[in-house]
Amino acid sequence: MSKFKINRFWSVVITILVIYGIVKLVIPAVSREITALPFPLTVPGTLVFIYMTLTVVALFLLVTFSDEFMKEFVGPIRGMLRGEYTKAFRAVVLVVVPLVIGWQVYDITVPKIQLPSSLRIQHPSSNFPKKFESLKNPFTQPTDARVDAFIKQAKDNEITLIPQVMKDIEVWAEETDPDHMLQFLPFEPVKKLLAEIEADKVSKETAKAALHEIDLFEGRALYAMNCRPCHGDSVAGDGPMADGFKLRPINFTDNGTIETIVEGYTFWRVMNGGPGLPTEATPWDSAMPEWKISLTDEERWKIILAEYDLAEKTPRIPESE
Ligand code: HEC
Repeated sequence: MSKFKINRFWSVVITILVIYGIVKLVIPAVSREITALPFPLTVPGTLVFIYMTLTVVALFLLVTFSDEFMKEFVGPIRGMLRGEYTKAFRAVVLVVVPLVIGWQVYDITVPKIQLPSSLRIQHPSSNFPKKFESLKNPFTQPTDARVDAFIKQAKDNEITLIPQVMKDIEVWAEETDPDHMLQFLPFEPVKKLLAEIEADKVSKETAKAALHEIDLFEGRALYAMNCRPCHGDSVAGDGPMADGFKLRPINFTDNGTIETIVEGYTFWRVMNGGPGLPTEATPWDSAMPEWKISLTDEERWKIILAEYDLAEKTPRIPESE
């Protein structure tokens, strides 16, 4: 009984192809299943290089393990060189292989055209959809309806904040047993509102100011959860992860960053991150993540409200106004 046995030369070729296929196709496909994102997560080029180098080293060790293995491996190569698979095939291989290798070497060594770094445009607006330009942050000026609803909820002590902070507030409420849930936010306008509720004389102005404090509080909480690692507590682009990037996270307190753009542009920028920027924003690609999937529109607007507030800046006013 003879066992099916594949020649060592072809097993080496097939192993390399299979491992390349796993790294290039299977890992991204599996990562997509696991993360449920609408796109596959590709393996970075340097990692592909490391995996493939390790594969080649392992195969080299295997082939050179014994004279017998070595002989089997070089068999087909020797056969090809001797013209055993027809002379025409040999001629094709001897022409194509040097051409492919030569082209690769040429491609790697030929000087590439690179933009000087100073030409990088930080706020490329060429593919910035114009409909974003006139967008307004709905939390800057709350509508009357929203303020009225808030007054009612505040009177009934039935305020609910975003779920991301509610847990902490519930723990706090259990520990301190407060008269009113809003005591969690010790800001002047909120204190004033609580006093007015006590006296049953709530003014719209006070309620509006208190509501603004709440929006800012929620925005700061969302900022701390999502943006702080890069942009830092002080919004100066000095978060714990900031040093890891060649293109540092933006310092929002700097003149010439978020102050020079309309808030609709900031909103679009936070939505699409570095991957959404056009080619003018190269040669270094920004590590700024895309937030359109993991944050809702409302959450992004609240963060932007807090971001401008923390940086003590105001957005640029659109030309149309
Ligand atoms: C992984 C790090 C990282 C995280 C997390 C991150 N950013 Fe960024 N962000 C960057 C980098 C790097 C830049 C610089 C891009 C540039 O110069 O074009 C940037 C740029 C920006 C800009 C553009 C500013 C301008 O003037 O054009 C805004 C706005 C911004 N980030 C907001 C946010 C918000 C809001 C969050 C949280 C929801 C966030 N970022 C989270 C890395 C990050």
